[in-house]
Amino acid sequence: MALSQNQEKVNQKATEILVKVEQLKIHFPIFQGFIIQKQIAAIKAVDNVSFNIHKGETLGLVGESGCGKSTTGRAILQLQEITGGKVYFQDQDLTQLSPAEMRDRRLQMQMIFQDPYTSLNPRLTVGQIISEPLKVHNLTSQHNPTERVSELLELVGLNPQFAQRYPHEFSGGQRQRIAIARALVVNPDFIVCDEPIAALDVSIQAQIVNLLQDLQQELNLTYLFIAHDLSVVRHISDRIAVMYLGKIVEMSDRNALYKNPLHPYTQALLSAIPLPDPDREKSRSRLILQGDVPSPLNPPSGCNFQTRCPYAFEACQIEPELRQVSENHFVACHLIDRESSDSP
Ligand SMILES: Nc1ncnc2c1ncn2[C@@H]1O[C@H](COP(=O)(O)OP(=O)(O)O)[C@@H](O)[C@H]1O
Ligand SMILES: [Mg+2]
Repeated sequence: MALSQNQEKVNQKATEILVKVEQLKIHFPIFQGFIIQKQIAAIKAVDNVSFNIHKGETLGLVGESGCGKSTTGRAILQLQEITGGKVYFQDQDLTQLSPAEMRDRRLQMQMIFQDPYTSLNPRLTVGQIISEPLKVHNLTSQHNPTERVSELLELVGLNPQFAQRYPHEFSGGQRQRIAIARALVVNPDFIVCDEPIAALDVSIQAQIVNLLQDLQQELNLTYLFIAHDLSVVRHISDRIAVMYLGKIVEMSDRNALYKNPLHPYTQALLSAIPLPDPDREKSRSRLILQGDVPSPLNPPSGCNFQTRCPYAFEACQIEPELRQVSENHFVACHLIDRESSDSP
């Protein structure tokens, strides 16, 4: 019975698309000149990114710092002006909405940030912080703020009496719980979790991930979960998209990605995770990346990973497209062709 219910949930997850990002581009112009400013270049923070997020699932978005993850997350919520492409939420094109229409829509879409120390206003009590979105959206007649704050504090595992206290009285993990309560106060459907555990002690990280997972089940939430390393997203994600220099280089079901990473960049991110078994750790082959991510102001031509890729060959002068290699596995790498043409 439980199994068939689970199966039903999986099937449901696979069908209904909540968020659809199509050919998203975000280029930040660089100007020169004092009196007459002239655009001389553009930082291609996000360049032709497309993906879907299904209702009830978690899509992990992973890549080193500066790859365009936060910019993508902000763009979905229309907190970031976009240069090109479309973002659909429940089939509605958000890029065409007026600011007032978008304000209403934003009730369904919230964001949790990396740093719970700077994301909470130190002058407000926890109760004021959590209930603020109700006031901004004129929802205080529908939800009694005091009751709603108690309910939410309990939901995120905090004592409802904490409503009277100030953020500085709390630890990082507790603050992140408060930030989660604030995001939930308007009953959203979708949350962009932008590295929500990166600033927390390792011992607290799993608790926050577990909380987010429990809340997802209980409230039927859909997440875009951003992280800079693949160990963090492993447990929470249904599918994972790996981003490098503004582009998605690999996207797949979680298990396929960890068992059979196809892009050398994904392989390198996996190599960075230590294995718990010391014998396997010693004997495994690792792909260690040299250097930093190149500047998105002047990215390498062709495949933009070629400057750090140990397998780069002639074909990499041409930009690879993100191509489907199996049912739910997409990769943008010319090695796929080479491997299949090499095989007998
Ligand atoms: N407002 C901005 N103006 C100019 N460049 C920006 C702005 N925001 C982000 N960038 C640049 O865009 C790139 C992607 O940034 P970001 O999305 O924050 O990456 P990530 O979240 O993956 O670390 C970086 O090179 C960053 O410097
Ligand atoms: Mg970021």
